Amino acid sequence: MPEYLAYTPSIEKPEADEHVIFDEISRTMQHITRTMASRYRHAYRPVHAKSHGVLVGTLEVLPGLSPELAQGLFAASGSYPVILRFSTNPGDMLADNVSSPRGLAIKVLNVKGEQLPSNAGATTQDFVCINANVFGAPNAAGFLKTLKTLDKTLETPEGVKHAVSVAAQTVNTVLKAVHLPSPTLESLGAPATHILGESFSTVAPLRYGAYVAKVGFAPASENLKVLTGKHVDLGADYNALEEMIQRFFRDQTGVWEVKVQLALAEDSSLEEKEKSFPIEKADTEWPEADKGGKPGSPWIPVARITVVAQASYSDARQLFVDEQLSFTPWHALAAHRPLGNVMRSRLKAYEEARKYRAQRNDRTIAEPKSIDEVPA
Ligand code: HEM
Repeated sequence: MPEYLAYTPSIEKPEADEHVIFDEISRTMQHITRTMASRYRHAYRPVHAKSHGVLVGTLEVLPGLSPELAQGLFAASGSYPVILRFSTNPGDMLADNVSSPRGLAIKVLNVKGEQLPSNAGATTQDFVCINANVFGAPNAAGFLKTLKTLDKTLETPEGVKHAVSVAAQTVNTVLKAVHLPSPTLESLGAPATHILGESFSTVAPLRYGAYVAKVGFAPASENLKVLTGKHVDLGADYNALEEMIQRFFRDQTGVWEVKVQLALAEDSSLEEKEKSFPIEKADTEWPEADKGGKPGSPWIPVARITVVAQASYSDARQLFVDEQLSFTPWHALAAHRPLGNVMRSRLKAYEEARKYRAQRNDRTIAEPKSIDEVPA
């Protein structure tokens, strides 16, 4: 058995003044959400504002997991209700033909065990994911630069964003040619693929009981797998992604695999940038296979999520999940504590975003106690 990295609090290396960056991120996110609130007369999430489908399903832990995989939520076989919210990452409500990276937020209900103080009294475990294996920035400071650009481009007309998106899907150097502020608008050139064929991951690590892992979600049933990489025409409809999800779940069942990639133990004298499995550097893809004499760590299935046919975007359901729920990696069991600089920065940012949305829209946003709270 490979030597897995054992979780101890000392594997995190917080910087003394990192809270200054975290505060600035929260402030910038507040500015984005307030700017949008004054445009729409309503507060939305400062990123991933637009949802496309809201599903309820069941997560089943696979039986017979080996000891290193049978940890935390996955320690014993069992099944849990889940809520899935599919989104795209801008903070404004763009037409879906402005193609952008996709998000998947998963809330597992009825979980047992010690919760982090940030989820005290709740019985939920969230996994907040994007369709990538790495984050676009190494740390919160890098992310803040992108966020500042995003904040500045809020006023860029949607028509320009659409043109950029279409162009960037084919020629991603075009941005430089038209001198648009790049890193953020570049992300609008995400491939126009079917959202249900995507694989998602937490990108940044979390505690996995006695170990450390990233968690991922990938299509497992054939009807989802055939959608992977499938080019779709996003031009037809303002809400093309919502339509696609609705069409699929009108009469089909979808199954996703839940998998984990455990970090391997490395020489503790190595600097973060020299490690294959860094905790503090979120833009490093952990190797799946052995390479150059260095061992890799494959993704291994630990559970599956089954979603049966349902109405994936009823008005009542959309309102409930968009307005009365929040998802954050800090809604977590102590056994799945988010780890590293990017994860630490998310504690305050999501909490402040939730508070502002609740106050501005005069809504209570709370952790659900039962799946029956989600409207049909
Ligand atoms: C510096 C890092 C990050 C910060 C500060 C940040 C902040 C935020 C905030 C404030 C929200 C809105 C929350 C709300 O209003 O309820 C949000 C939503 C979201 N973020 Fe992040 N984020 C970061 C990194 C990431 C990463 C690494 C991922 C994925 C792996 C991610 C995926 C998402 C998704 C999917 C949502 C939508 C959640 C939902 O459906 O409610 N974010 N983020």
